[in-house]
Amino acid sequence: MDDENSTEGASSSGIPSEPVRSSVTTGVTADNELSPPAVSPPVQDAPAEPPLETTTTAEVPTDASTPTTADEAVVTDSPEPVDVVAAPTGRQPQAASGNPLPRVMAVANQKGGVGKTTTSVNLGAALAELGFRVLVIDLDPQGNATTGLGIDARNFELSMYDVLMRDSSLEDCVEPTSMKNLFVAPATIALAGAEIELVPAFSRELKLKRAIETVIDDFDFVLIDCPPSLGLITVNALAAADEVLVPIQCEYYALEGLSQLMRNVHLVASNLNPRLDISTIVLTMYDARTKLSDQVATEVRDHFGNKVCRIVIPRTVRLSEAPSFGQPITAFDPASRGAIAYRELAKEVSGGTS
Ligand SMILES: Nc1ncnc2c1ncn2[C@@H]1O[C@H](COP(=O)(O)OP(=O)(O)O)[C@@H](O)[C@H]1O
Ligand SMILES: [Mg+2]
Repeated sequence: MDDENSTEGASSSGIPSEPVRSSVTTGVTADNELSPPAVSPPVQDAPAEPPLETTTTAEVPTDASTPTTADEAVVTDSPEPVDVVAAPTGRQPQAASGNPLPRVMAVANQKGGVGKTTTSVNLGAALAELGFRVLVIDLDPQGNATTGLGIDARNFELSMYDVLMRDSSLEDCVEPTSMKNLFVAPATIALAGAEIELVPAFSRELKLKRAIETVIDDFDFVLIDCPPSLGLITVNALAAADEVLVPIQCEYYALEGLSQLMRNVHLVASNLNPRLDISTIVLTMYDARTKLSDQVATEVRDHFGNKVCRIVIPRTVRLSEAPSFGQPITAFDPASRGAIAYRELAKEVSGGTS
């Protein structure tokens, strides 16, 4: 996978000069050891229908320099949603919907900028809107989930650094947000130190797991927003979680590094946390105007089957604006395409209402 970081083979437009399909596959075929779409436990509830027409015109896009097309406005990843959005059997339920509560999900992908934080915040908010009690744990020293949920570093005393490094109680660290049912365990830049300070610590991989055990009775979903690395902080998240949710950006090199993430998940599963499973893959920043988005989506679905959510998250500027207002998209612009997509995703991931 030495060629992964190279831009050779890509034209100036960013579109690879080789057929994209084979280029994109490069990231996957190296992963022959990766588990193909796994055998999943029986699913209780069927997922929500693809959003189809209801999602087509909710938002006047402010980010589009080209005119809106019908394709662009849909949340699903194809102009003909049934072909691509549905799993191969057409009606196969998404793998993890209906997993028993409480569910602890690590939102992980060591690539930066793929939508981990956006998904943690907005899926969390949408699940809370459905009536689930949701805790978002910010494990990224950048603290973007914290500020994105309107929590100002000056207004809290304890952060995840204190929980991991000073054995402070997670319950004391948890802050309410302006959304009912939605809570956040904040992070500050101090957490950057934990990556190194944890190295000599006793039970260093299990600190988060132990902390979550003390509050889990209070929540239906715990979403752990991981940093863009596979260090000890992410290992803590993987050791604490039942499931991994992997956001994959619908861009070239989308699959780069995924095999490494898989290896780490398998390592943690075999050494620390046998129940860990990559249950959910979310395609993010889908742009219906580009063929590449479709190609990546198809490639990911071919490889991961029904782990890939039918709902894809569109690229929309409203989603990138919301954090600076300290609000999830469901509050910032409730009728926008991004809000609709994350609401539909919440239904799909949870299997319904609480
Ligand atoms: N669907 C989307 N449409 C447009 N911008 C997005 C979308 N998802 C994320 N972004 C923006 O992309 C950037 C990276 O997203 P982020 O969620 O912070 O990724 P990560 O946590 O994986 O680093 C942020 O500026 C975010 O606002
Ligand atoms: Mg992030």
